[in-house]
Amino acid sequence: MEAVADLAGLEETRVRFLGRKAALTTLLRSIPELPAADRPNVGRFGNLVKRELEAALEARQAVLEAGELVDALEHDRLDVTLPGRTLPLGHLHLITSTRREIEDIFVSMGYSVAEGPEIETDYYNFEALNHPADHPARSLHDTFFVSDDILLRTHTSPVQVRVMEKKRPPVYVIAPGKAYRRDSDATHTPMFHQVEGLVVDEGVTLADLKGTLEVFARAMFGSDRQIRLRPHFFPFTEPSVEVDVSCMICDGVGCRLCKRSGWLEILGAGMVDPNVFAFVGYDSEKYTGFAFGMGIERIAMLKHGVTDLRLFYENDLRFVRQF
Ligand code: PHE
Repeated sequence: MEAVADLAGLEETRVRFLGRKAALTTLLRSIPELPAADRPNVGRFGNLVKRELEAALEARQAVLEAGELVDALEHDRLDVTLPGRTLPLGHLHLITSTRREIEDIFVSMGYSVAEGPEIETDYYNFEALNHPADHPARSLHDTFFVSDDILLRTHTSPVQVRVMEKKRPPVYVIAPGKAYRRDSDATHTPMFHQVEGLVVDEGVTLADLKGTLEVFARAMFGSDRQIRLRPHFFPFTEPSVEVDVSCMICDGVGCRLCKRSGWLEILGAGMVDPNVFAFVGYDSEKYTGFAFGMGIERIAMLKHGVTDLRLFYENDLRFVRQF
């Protein structure tokens, strides 16, 4: 017993001397077959040996168990004062954080946030936005068609129509989301993000549009920024403009980013065309409004000096982690 070193060895010893096939067990089991005169002695002596063995096993077990506890306390120490392991945490993608930044600026001006489906009908993407069936502006959109009538929205402007169908003026909404066009190079990806803006109320003018976008441009790009409006064309706004912000790199002097012009284009906008109001049953004698649409990728690129749009979607962590 003294030679048994651990609990596993002790179990082996128990099986060997007290198990079902042990010599002592066999002897005790054979007592009924022994001559009657031998039975009492064999029985008494055999059981005595058995009890002694059991007692010795138990005593050794207690010693071995105590030893293993001491061993565990010695070697498996847990220092509860050590700092915990930090779990790796991700963070927002630059597109998401830029979208939220834009949302926050407009929400702070009292706008609410609307959403619409990415799979749209021709009606919302074109027709109700004053692109008649054969309008040439449709071909500029490089549309992904699902069927003749169903498509991936080419801009977030269809949300304007959906919002106006549901709600009477006053309307102050922005609609961020994905848009799709068949286009792919350093400044175009087939999927991209826009934020649409729509205001409809009594007495809204182009001056309100300009003031609103100036507040936005300064909140986004710095309080020194200027904006300018250039005449443009969109079927659903009249008049239409493109909006530039003074270059944040050279402060309008002229540099590589702004191609020496001092200005950077940031969005398209205009006064909502009365034809669009007619589609949603708004009285264009009573209400006027403005709308604008900007590309989130473009805003993020200008703000953070990103030179290739595709970087946003390649998921190279060396890029992603910089923001
Ligand atoms: N939807 C236009 C585009 O994608 C942008 C725009 C929105 C222009 C709202 C005017 C008003 O180019």
